[in-house]
Amino acid sequence: MFELLYTSVSPKGLSEPDLMTLLQAARCKNQGLDITGMLVYHDREFMQLLEGEESIVKNLYQRILTDNRHTSVELLYQGTIENRAFGEWSMAFKLLDEKAVNALIPGYEEFDRKISPINMIKASPNRGKRTFLSLRDSL
Ligand SMILES: Cc1cc2nc3c(=O)[nH]c(=O)nc-3n(C[C@H](O)[C@H](O)[C@H](O)COP(=O)(O)O)c2cc1C
Repeated sequence: MFELLYTSVSPKGLSEPDLMTLLQAARCKNQGLDITGMLVYHDREFMQLLEGEESIVKNLYQRILTDNRHTSVELLYQGTIENRAFGEWSMAFKLLDEKAVNALIPGYEEFDRKISPINMIKASPNRGKRTFLSLRDSL
């Protein structure tokens, strides 16, 4: 089993209906590919964790890379895993609101908002996976 985490930016941002359309299609496709994971969105930024068979995850990532709904795709981590963390979700989803951001990054509201929460999560080693797990447990 293999996992891959990345972040990206949607320059114009996506509306909630656009996000739901993206998610519905992704869930449908992931079921057929035995891909599971989680997508997180906050103010034009994405974070996604994909898990499944290595070649399938890598192929899907290559397709996602070329999707024009986002840009600046940055690979955070990829590697083998013993077990899936999102076995029950073809693609869990979390729209990060202020409350969720403050729960994830204590004291965030007091920081200079030039650094987005996803950038802060990205900057700290290991925080990526831990963030997904804590968001999963809050679903
Ligand atoms: C942020 C983001 C996350 C995505 N996640 C998935 C996903 O988990 N599974 C998936 O099949 N497509 C996902 N997509 C859509 C793919 O980029 C692509 O449009 C879709 O797989 C259809 O590809 P195809 O036209 O080559 O069949 C995502 C797109 C974006 C922008």
